[in-house]
Amino acid sequence: MSTIEQAGFSLGSTGIVLPQVGFGTWAIPEGKECVRAVAQAIVCGYRLIDGAAFYKNEHSVGQGVRLAMQKANLNRKDIFVTSKVWPTNLGYQKTMDAFFKTLNDTGLDYLDLYLIHWPANAASFENWEELNVDTWRAMQELYGEGYVQAIGVSNFKEHHLRALLNADVPPMVNQLEIHPGHSQKALVDFCHDHGMVVEGWSPFGRGAVLDNELITALAQKYERSPAQICLRFAAQLGVLPIPKSSNTERMRANLKINDFELSTEDMETLLALDEQQLGYSGEDSDLIVHHD
Ligand SMILES: NC(=O)c1ccc[n+]([C@@H]2O[C@H](COP(=O)([O-])OP(=O)(O)OC[C@H]3O[C@@H](n4cnc5c(N)ncnc54)[C@H](OP(=O)(O)O)[C@@H]3O)[C@@H](O)[C@H]2O)c1
Repeated sequence: MSTIEQAGFSLGSTGIVLPQVGFGTWAIPEGKECVRAVAQAIVCGYRLIDGAAFYKNEHSVGQGVRLAMQKANLNRKDIFVTSKVWPTNLGYQKTMDAFFKTLNDTGLDYLDLYLIHWPANAASFENWEELNVDTWRAMQELYGEGYVQAIGVSNFKEHHLRALLNADVPPMVNQLEIHPGHSQKALVDFCHDHGMVVEGWSPFGRGAVLDNELITALAQKYERSPAQICLRFAAQLGVLPIPKSSNTERMRANLKINDFELSTEDMETLLALDEQQLGYSGEDSDLIVHHD
């Protein structure tokens, strides 16, 4: 059982409490830079590391975790490591194989969270619903056998989720693109109503929302950085954001979102940015076709 005890999000019936903010590892190249960034993030105080086979840096993520354990005198169970199965590996057997490749690449004995990175969708697969259910069967087996502490999905909309809600172990997490300009509030509420923790990817819209004039005005008003406004926005939606930074100062600053609160009125104004789709990646899980 995990000993992660920062204020945060209870993960279903697992007894695990997730921290308020996690650390993203997309686009950090495999090698020294990634090992350093992951280790540095953990030393700075991050306890949740978000990775994926698709990021092609899982050797380094594992090394970074081990380096941080030494440097910060932590145990493996103090750190919550996530990976994800990519859409070209959906289906029972391919998911099993992808999971054990990830486990081997990271050099870890178990993962904390394994996610379906994107749902099989009608644009890519005729039998998309069946494929998601088959994949979920593998996920439940990995969970049942203790290779992973928790299982979930990413980029699943309500119609993708519905087929999994009656499973023996329903998804515990849905990781979604969430930032000012793309709050997905109705889907977040749906996930919360069904007991899922919602994680928010690209909390800064990959940096694109940080110089928006409303965000910079709120940063001035609250005497915080634009990034902290975005992270606080996620927190007040009940979402666990997973910002990526390779810079130690920004890593540290991105953890400090608990000493201020956005007013209800300012939350409403931020939610209204959805109309402009500010910073939206355009990656619609019903339309996107993925390749390796
Ligand atoms: N499930 C999915 O489909 C999915 C999709 C995309 C991403 N993700 C996950 O979500 C994580 C985060 O998303 P992301 O990497 O796309 O983008 P992001 O976290 O929204 O933005 C990262 C960018 O913001 C900059 N940044 C970080 N902190 C900052 C600060 N305090 N002030 C100014 N700039 C700052 C970073 O630069 P520096 O590094 O120079 O600080 C980087 O250029 C990913 O790493 C990945 O783990 C998941």
